[in-house]
Amino acid sequence: MSYQALYRKCRPTVFDDVVGQSHVTETLKNQINLNNIAHAYLFTGTRGTGKTSVARIFSRAINCQDIVDNNPCNECDTCRGIIDESLMDVVEIDAASNNGVDDIRELRENIKYPPTKCKYKVYIIDEVHMLSQGAFNALLKTLEEPPEYACFILATTEPHKIPATILSRCQRFDFKRISFEDMNDLLVKVAEEVTIDIDERSVKMISRMSEGAARDALSILDQCISYGENTITYDKVLNILGIARDNILFDMTEKILLEDFQGVMTMIGDIVAAGKDVNQFIKAFLKHFRNIMIAKISETPENIIDESDESIRKYVEYGEKFSMDHVLWIIDELAKLEVDSKYSSNPRFLLEMSLVKILRPTYDDSIEALKVRIENLERKIEMGLISKPQRRVESSTKIETSVQTTEDKKIQTVPQTSNQSPVQSNIESQNQVREESSNEIVEEPAVEVKYENHSGISFEQVKGSWEKFLNLIKREKIFLYAFLIEGKPAAINNKTLVISFERKFDFHKESMEQKEYRRDLEEMLFTFYNVDLSISCVFDDEIGGAVVHVEVDDSSDIEKIQNFLGDDKDKLEIL
Ligand SMILES: Nc1ncnc2c1ncn2[C@@H]1O[C@H](COP(=O)(O)OP(=O)(O)O)[C@@H](O)[C@H]1O
Ligand SMILES: [Mg+2]
Ligand SMILES: [Zn+2]
Repeated sequence: MSYQALYRKCRPTVFDDVVGQSHVTETLKNQINLNNIAHAYLFTGTRGTGKTSVARIFSRAINCQDIVDNNPCNECDTCRGIIDESLMDVVEIDAASNNGVDDIRELRENIKYPPTKCKYKVYIIDEVHMLSQGAFNALLKTLEEPPEYACFILATTEPHKIPATILSRCQRFDFKRISFEDMNDLLVKVAEEVTIDIDERSVKMISRMSEGAARDALSILDQCISYGENTITYDKVLNILGIARDNILFDMTEKILLEDFQGVMTMIGDIVAAGKDVNQFIKAFLKHFRNIMIAKISETPENIIDESDESIRKYVEYGEKFSMDHVLWIIDELAKLEVDSKYSSNPRFLLEMSLVKILRPTYDDSIEALKVRIENLERKIEMGLISKPQRRVESSTKIETSVQTTEDKKIQTVPQTSNQSPVQSNIESQNQVREESSNEIVEEPAVEVKYENHSGISFEQVKGSWEKFLNLIKREKIFLYAFLIEGKPAAINNKTLVISFERKFDFHKESMEQKEYRRDLEEMLFTFYNVDLSISCVFDDEIGGAVVHVEVDDSSDIEKIQNFLGDDKDKLEIL
């Protein structure tokens, strides 16, 4: 026997088996009882909520010879004839498979003849919103003057696409999403029917992920079954759903809070490597943030969130760490992502992009993102991650100009007092700044006023072997490669390799400037060239007038820098 999908096998056959739509089924049963059948019905609602099933049940119930409490008996000749489709009095048209003009034309021909065996001729038109204008017009004519024995059941997920002229002739029933409890009951019942053991937690998980569509719930259950034995475990369900166990979701949340870019990307890689479905992950993550939001606003989140006490405690905890705006913004971002990724051939890529945005609202210019940025800053200041910035001096000088300077001047610009050699003091000051920058300070590193190559390698050497170097990176660090590929080596300035990007690659540049990528690149440079080079990223048009940030403690330093710059001193910008 060929395998039949659960959602087909377990299609309800009587009104009383239909879950969660009693407002529809009780009304229809009542009409049958009173023998008061309308000529046209419109069933609307999300997919997988029972529209087609109820239409079929109804088509039998109004024709059944042996009605049982207003449900079809499913055993009499007519019921059986309808079920095995040997009776032509009940016709199903799938408007989705063609635009329906021919079908409707045929229908109009056909409807002239009274039913052969049944009391009613029933036309079920599924996905009716897909009919063409011509087909709608033809249908309308029939609906305007239907024969006594005709009954139309139109079903659609998109009632707003149905012309008002048709709507006004139908009795409308809205099918609701199936509630969480009803879905749990349905799953338990179906599992019993097919003799499958499933624990409560798994049932709830499936219900939650199906979002009120019974067909989806049964499909998931189906996949869990075909996966193996007769027992469904929670882990299996998570696996099938491609869901990240809850702690993965919390881990990811933690990384977002810490703006741990590398960590987030690694986690996505792990999820994909484990064969999980990215779209399901996105769905779960969206839900996760919805729970954080609820935990933030509700006094009694346990009444709304159906999760273990332990999880709810964590939702509350994370709710406190995020601002409301931030949570809403993330939800907004993930909701957009959920829609987009469904139709994407590469959802992973979209997920990464969204997470980059979530981690770095800097890449988003919307007011919402701006708010989040400000809040993040405030939070960091509160947590002591950022100290009050020192005064900053910005100057522009030519990179390639080799300025002859006295030791004296060089040292003056560096906040250092010892008598170390200039080169040494320069290295130390760079290190010092680099340490500071691990505290998330956005300042540019290093005080480099003297533009001379002290790196121990010539710029030509670097440039000449750049392609080889890129190839190495491609093999070792693919993300780094993805960003670096848009940049070019532009100069070596003291011990800093300047990499330039076109303006349109600002995303790549900014990514390259991330601490972890910079560090990775510096390590790779050391491996490849055996010299200590640090990195500075600039835009193409800044070369020849590259911006150098200089931090000074005391205003007398500004004067020294002005002296040093000489003719160029009007290019100095004091912030
Ligand atoms: N309300 C419901 N009660 C029980 N099962 C349902 C219900 N809605 C859908 N199902 C299950 O989903 C399958 C598809 O439902 P269907 O009636 O085709 O939904 P729709 O036409 O609304 O998309 C059914 O065969 C059944 O297994
Ligand atoms: Mg349907
Ligand atoms: Zn019957």
